[in-house]
Amino acid sequence: MRSHYCGQVTETLLDHDVTLCGWAHRRRDHGGVIFVDLRDREGLVQVVIDPDVPDAFANAERVRNEYVLRVIGRVRRRPEGTENPNLATGAVEVLVRQLDILNRSEPLPFQLDEPDISEEVRLRYRYLDLRRPEMQERLRLRTQVISVLRRFLERHGFMDIETPMLTKATPEGARDYLVPSRTHPGSFFALPQSPQLFKQLLMMAGLDRYYQVVRCFRDEDLRADRQPEFTQLDIETSFMDEQAITDLMEEMIRQMFKSVLNVDLPHPFPRMPYETAMQRYGSDKPDLRIPLELTELSDLMQGVEFKVFSGPANDPNGRVAALRVPNGGKLSRREIDLYSDFVGRYGAKGLAYIKVNDVSQGREGLQAPIVKFLPDEILAKILTRTGAENGDLIFFGADSTKVVNDALGALRIKVGHDLDLLRGEWAPLWVVNFPMFEWDEQEQRWNALHHPFTAPRTDDPAEVRANPGRCLSRAYDMVLNGTEIGGGSVRIHRQEMQSTVFDLLGITPEEARAKFGFLLDALKFGCPPHGGLAFGLDRLVMLMAGANSIREVMAFPKTQSAACLLTQAPAPVTEAQLRDLNIRLRRAP
Ligand code: AMO
Ligand code: AMP
Repeated sequence: MRSHYCGQVTETLLDHDVTLCGWAHRRRDHGGVIFVDLRDREGLVQVVIDPDVPDAFANAERVRNEYVLRVIGRVRRRPEGTENPNLATGAVEVLVRQLDILNRSEPLPFQLDEPDISEEVRLRYRYLDLRRPEMQERLRLRTQVISVLRRFLERHGFMDIETPMLTKATPEGARDYLVPSRTHPGSFFALPQSPQLFKQLLMMAGLDRYYQVVRCFRDEDLRADRQPEFTQLDIETSFMDEQAITDLMEEMIRQMFKSVLNVDLPHPFPRMPYETAMQRYGSDKPDLRIPLELTELSDLMQGVEFKVFSGPANDPNGRVAALRVPNGGKLSRREIDLYSDFVGRYGAKGLAYIKVNDVSQGREGLQAPIVKFLPDEILAKILTRTGAENGDLIFFGADSTKVVNDALGALRIKVGHDLDLLRGEWAPLWVVNFPMFEWDEQEQRWNALHHPFTAPRTDDPAEVRANPGRCLSRAYDMVLNGTEIGGGSVRIHRQEMQSTVFDLLGITPEEARAKFGFLLDALKFGCPPHGGLAFGLDRLVMLMAGANSIREVMAFPKTQSAACLLTQAPAPVTEAQLRDLNIRLRRAP
């Protein structure tokens, strides 16, 4: 039916006959001659229909945008002055001998090259949205990324093994999507939040190296980088420690970036302890392209009279920190107020600041309402610690450690972008040495920072029990440009440790048996040391595509409210279906 893709018709085909299929991107009538831009996956080519060819011409007159056409013709050079250097096919055109209309199209609900089409319309007519070259490019990139990653893993002996979609809950911290069982009335499957337990079982089965490009389901609050179903590149290995695993994984990402984007990522990736990341960046996924850092001031502020600072400084769960913005002195009062509103979203009650006019003049060289609350020697220490220079602005956060980190961490990124401070295009790193547990004030119990199968750094369950808050894990996250693109850990492979961790998390032995009995059993029968990780493929491709949401790199994403505008899912089901499933709705829809 076709000899070439439209986008392949270049000067190398001059004087050749070609048969092309595609969509009429645009039709122009030029006083007797008709031009059609014919478009397919590979690009656009101009085809010319002359009245000398009456059949083709008659058909061409009926062509409208997005009609599906097949043309046969000869490639010729475009007349001088009519070339289009922006198009791969711009030096040539196809003089048409035969033109068939394979299908008609109603006028589209939007023009494909219209800027700013609302996302709602795009998702409702996703098949049209995906016709846009930009979207095709993104899906092509996604395909390439997955293909290169697969080849790397296959070269390194990883086996692609599928795991069940209808399964039991795997705790990754989100709500489960449930599927009612017809054959077991009152019972439900859960769709996997990740294949975590199955991949561990595969290691216990002796498969040694596993991978899967796998859909995961999480019913959680959605954001730009979160979808209810998303794709992981999921990986597990046996007899490798965290150094070996992270080395191999960063090599994979390095090779993939080189091959897909021709980008050289650093070798090795920097490794940063969790604590350092929180101290210096207020985040466990720091964007290292932004050359701004938080400065710790808690110890300096314990004795000051300014209660806003001394309160948090003396609270073990509090923090006072500064963010120095080089040349930030030029920010207007209004801009500073907007930043103050911005940190308010993260719970900050204010955003104190000092403008540094002249470092050499001490107090006189500083400008801010709060200067009068702080003694000379404290002001001097703030300047040395932050490394302030003339013309800088110093922001202050004082609150619970969480609020200060969230607020100044987010401010750091916002100011970095607003003032155009980003350095370099790609900044990957590993964040390591995470705490095993974090204390849940509300529930008054420990939570796992990763999932409950993550191994602690110590092999001694008694040590974990003695001081859970101090216990570090063997987890690692890969962070790229401020986004967590992957995470994993060395796992617990001894039953006593697994029971200890369950116990600390408030999971009773009965509950543990009911939920993870199969895992606890498997741990008894010769479980090898093992570990792995999972990459969020959508996030990875989003970053590589320069897109600002993972929806832009998924063919059929869902909306913020976890619905599909295209198919109108989720949707009610019939009474008969519900009866089959033994379900009665609590509330009529
Ligand atoms: P984790 O929960 O960190 O680890 O998930 C791994 C990676 O998946 C991506 N991700 C998401 N992407 C889009 N939408 C979401 N809702 C979403 N949630 C997570 C992130 C994240 O880094 N079983 C463990 C991995 C392991 O320990 O091996 C796990 O699932 O990029
Ligand atoms: P106040 O004494 O409440 O008027 O605050 C004086 C300055 O400190 C103002 O610039 C406030 O924005 C700022 N401020 C108040 N609370 C905090 C806080 N928790 N962290 C940082 N700055 C604050």
